[in-house]
Amino acid sequence: MRRPIIAGNWKMNKTVSEAVDFVRQLKVLVADVRDIDIVVAPTFTALRAISREIEGSNIELAGQDVFWESRGAYTGEISPSMLKDVGCRYVIIGHSERRQYFGETNELVQKKIKASLAMGLHPIVCVGEALEEREAGKTFDVVKIQVIQCLEGFSREEMEKITIAYEPIWAIGTGKTATPQQAEEVHAFIREQMGYITNRQISEGVRIQYGGSVNPDNISDLMVHPNIDGALVGGASLKADSFSSVVKFKRM
Ligand code: 13P
Repeated sequence: MRRPIIAGNWKMNKTVSEAVDFVRQLKVLVADVRDIDIVVAPTFTALRAISREIEGSNIELAGQDVFWESRGAYTGEISPSMLKDVGCRYVIIGHSERRQYFGETNELVQKKIKASLAMGLHPIVCVGEALEEREAGKTFDVVKIQVIQCLEGFSREEMEKITIAYEPIWAIGTGKTATPQQAEEVHAFIREQMGYITNRQISEGVRIQYGGSVNPDNISDLMVHPNIDGALVGGASLKADSFSSVVKFKRM
């Protein structure tokens, strides 16, 4: 049985005080949730304050990105050990916005995953196709290459720490969610590919989140599907009431 994981990716939003206010409200709203991993990914500047706020609660912390070296002359970068030091359990790697605006390739994503795992962080690895790729019928080819190039070569123990987030780029921030069937189809495909690069037993344990315009109204329909194990939420994770409603989705 895979435990559901719902994560809020705040992207470049919230000052430290806004972040603290948010998480104080969220803590109360989700205090009774026991069977779901709840994760927030604030900006780097808010990590320390949020880490203190969530101590002893059922909310966990993620970085939105990481660098692969542990220290040195890499102006502007943050290492896995720094994320660990500040209380992160998870780290989002290879988000489509990083790939699009900062030229991140599958090869760099793989290096970031490796370095994060070595520090005991749990990577949330993002994959997903662009609109032109979907329209050209290339969704499965694109996702397959991403899965193989980002994830091939990790050990069983490492694979068990990895969560995959399928985020079709055309569904991010557009209000245009993939239908639950479209998402399930790609999730099942990702699991199958994971089975080829590891083995069936390991791939059955890997959690696959869906991301792209998830909100309180569509989460339940997504979560009914057997290969959808959670959500990576952008816009709807910025308000405590909407994020908590996503976390507390109705099971059907
Ligand atoms: P939205 O939920 O705003 O579409 O963003 C999804 C996302 O990119 C989460 O990482």
